[in-house]
Amino acid sequence: MAQFTLRIRRYLPESGDAPFWQEFEVDLEGHRSVLEGILAARAREDGSIGIRCSCRAAICGSCGVKINGRSRLACNTHLDEAAKDSPEGGAIVVEPMGNMPVIKDLIVDMDAVHWKKIRRVTPWLLPEGPPPEREYVVAHEAMVDVTQTMACIQCGACVSACLSMEVDPAFVGPAALAKAYRFVGDPRDGAHRERLEDLAEDPAGIYDCTHCFACIDACPKDVAPMSQIMRLRRIAGREFEIEDRNNGHRHETAFVENIEKNGLLHEADLLPDSYGGKLHPRAAPELIDSLPVIAKALARRKVTPGKALLHPHRRHFKDVRKLVRKVEAKDRPLELNLYIVGHDDEELEVAPE
Ligand code: FES
Repeated sequence: MAQFTLRIRRYLPESGDAPFWQEFEVDLEGHRSVLEGILAARAREDGSIGIRCSCRAAICGSCGVKINGRSRLACNTHLDEAAKDSPEGGAIVVEPMGNMPVIKDLIVDMDAVHWKKIRRVTPWLLPEGPPPEREYVVAHEAMVDVTQTMACIQCGACVSACLSMEVDPAFVGPAALAKAYRFVGDPRDGAHRERLEDLAEDPAGIYDCTHCFACIDACPKDVAPMSQIMRLRRIAGREFEIEDRNNGHRHETAFVENIEKNGLLHEADLLPDSYGGKLHPRAAPELIDSLPVIAKALARRKVTPGKALLHPHRRHFKDVRKLVRKVEAKDRPLELNLYIVGHDDEELEVAPE
C-alpha cells in the first residue's frame, strides 16, 4: 500500500465559483488505477467529486480525463505510473478532457462536440441497390481493413488531444474521421465518393488535420485516427481524383514535388506551387493574402531573403530524387490495415553518383 496525491481540477457550476484545484491523499496499491484513486477520494473525503465511469476495464470509454496533461482513460492508467510521470513532484494532476465544455469537475459535454461530429460523418452503412436476400457476404480481408477503426470505444481522448481542433473547433476531428474511414473502407458501402467529396470539400474536413500525431498518442485502442485521415486523403486524391476547393490534394502533391525538386522543403515555393505555380491566377490572391505573414517572418528573421530565394539545401536533391524514383517503381503495397502491410522490407538505397 502506498500513498498517492491526486490534484483534481474541480468545477461546481451550482456554486457560481470559478474552477479550482483540490488535493486528495489516497492509500492504495500502485497497480490500482487513477480511476480507483478518484473513486476512493470520493468515497472517503468528498462525495461531490464528479467523474463518469462504468466498466472500469477500458471498454465503455466513459472515464476519459487528462492525467498529467495527457488525454487518457482513468481506468487504464496505474497510479504508480502516473505518479512517476507527474510534473508536480509526485502529485497526479487530473483534469477534464480538452476541446469539450466542462459540465462538472471531470465530466465534459460529449454531446456538444464528440457526438455532434460523429453524426456529421453519417456513421452508418449506405449500401447501394436493394439488400441481398440473405446476408451481405464480405471478403475476410475487407473486414480486417476496417477492424482497426471498429476498435474505437468513443472515449473522446483523441478529440481532447487534437491540436487542430484547439485552433479550429469546427474541425470534424480525429474520432469522426476515423469513423468515416470505417465506411469508406467497407465494400458494402455504396457512397464512398460522396463521403470523400463531402469531407474533402469541407474546409474543416480531412485537409484540416496538421499531422501532429497527438491523437495517435492519446488513443487507448490503437485506432491511429491520424493515419485513418491520411488514408481518406489518399483514397480521395489518388483513387477518386477529387480536386477539392480547399486545395488540399494539390497542396499534398506540390509538397512531394517540392521536396523531390529541392531535396528539402523549400517553403518559399510551396504556396505558389500548391496553386499551380507563381504565375497561376489562383496563386496571386493567396500570395497577396500571405504578404503580412511573410513580412512578419522576415522582420523576425524566421526567414532571410537569401535563404528563401537560394534555398541552401538544394544540393541534396539528386539523392532525394533517386529515393522517390525507387519508391515509385515499387508495386503498391497490399494494405490489409495499418499494421498488416504486405510489402517486402528491402532497404531504400541510394546508388553512388
Ligand atoms: Fe469504462 Fe474506463 S470506465 S473505459
